[in-house]
Amino acid sequence: MKILIQNGYVLDPESKREGKYDVLIEENKIIKVAENICEPAERIIDASECYVMPGFIDLHVHLRDPGLEYKETLETGGKAGARGGVTTLCAMPNTKPVVDSGEKVEDVHRRAQMDSPVNVIQIGAITVGQQGETLADIAGMAKAGCHAISEDGKSVMNASLYRKAMKIAKENGLSIFAHCEDITMVEGGVMHADEKAKILGLKGITNAVEDVIVARDILLAKETGVRLHLCHCSTEDSVKLVEVAKNEGLPVTAEVCPHHFAMSTEDIMEDDGNFKMNPPLRGKKDVEALKAGLQADIMDVIATDHAPHAEEEKNCSMTKAAFGIVGLETMASLTYTELVVPGILTPMQMAEKTSYNPAKILGLKDKGAIAEGKIADIVVFDPNIEYVIDKNTFFSKGKNTPFHGRKVQGDVRCTLVGGNIVYERQSI
Ligand code: DOR
Ligand code: ZN
Ligand code: ZN
Repeated sequence: MKILIQNGYVLDPESKREGKYDVLIEENKIIKVAENICEPAERIIDASECYVMPGFIDLHVHLRDPGLEYKETLETGGKAGARGGVTTLCAMPNTKPVVDSGEKVEDVHRRAQMDSPVNVIQIGAITVGQQGETLADIAGMAKAGCHAISEDGKSVMNASLYRKAMKIAKENGLSIFAHCEDITMVEGGVMHADEKAKILGLKGITNAVEDVIVARDILLAKETGVRLHLCHCSTEDSVKLVEVAKNEGLPVTAEVCPHHFAMSTEDIMEDDGNFKMNPPLRGKKDVEALKAGLQADIMDVIATDHAPHAEEEKNCSMTKAAFGIVGLETMASLTYTELVVPGILTPMQMAEKTSYNPAKILGLKDKGAIAEGKIADIVVFDPNIEYVIDKNTFFSKGKNTPFHGRKVQGDVRCTLVGGNIVYERQSI
């Protein structure tokens, strides 16, 4: 089937080419990008006034499958991704059981092929059962195609064991996706440690809980030479540490989640579990540092940390609630509204951080670009749509978002995966 995307404003972060072009797709590939393509096609998508970007590649998603399907499944998470413009997502291994072997990675990949409309790359655990005691079969998981290993949900606190894992990861061409949290310093904290926590009578999580592990992990990456990707950076000092690592030429990249730049503790009006995530919403100074870090390209990636939970796990006090919020269906709108509209990021930088840089980190050479020969994973993004985020419209099983009721600008009009339309917005 041939599809022609007409009159859109194409953003290609690989060549840095941008402008008004048509994009012709045949089978699963982009076969032509040019002005005024006049070839017959079975389907024409009118992208006037829209950006045509490479499909978003979300490095950080919790799909909860296997074992926690009451929260999310490969199918519902995949549909949420398609709705959010995400064409490839990395699924974190803190499922039940934990994905810690080649067979478990293969099982998810096989089922995702059938159940998910978007591409799923399973990330492997670092230790067996994420227990922090014995290394998982890292080589076996690499063979099964997991691209990266992560203990996400926690850090590997034993630095010696972690260093061994890093060496094996490097030998097998895998990256480390690091969740940075010194568990011995959390001390029951449920939100950022500041005045707001005191007012609400809640225990705080200090910035150092994150920063000491960011520093440790950078030093271990320096020693082992492994490619290190720092997940959900939320503090001013984590940005500074990433900058130092980059200035040293270390193979370190960093991600920021939309909630960490679109909200601060000032938005928490009451003790509501839907505002609880790990790392927590931080102070205004941290938010400004994250935005500046994104603008200066110190921070490379925007990823969601999509963490669906059931209503009863979230509609309660922060002391009781599970950590995590959903993000797949709001990432593009929040990024556009908070970063592109105010001129912090250019639209091209948005495409770099949501697609091209993640593709590079994963080593996906045929993705993250709009050019001839690339896989036709594409998002048509309309910057003119204004709407109010409504959790009841989510495809995700998770309705746990602090952004319900927030007015945003820009939304996904259409998502293509491998040349197939997997999502089309119903109305404007
Ligand atoms: O907020 C979070 N939720 N942070 C994590 O690190 C884990 C995640 C989850 O699995 O729910
Ligand atoms: Zn995490
Ligand atoms: Zn996570």
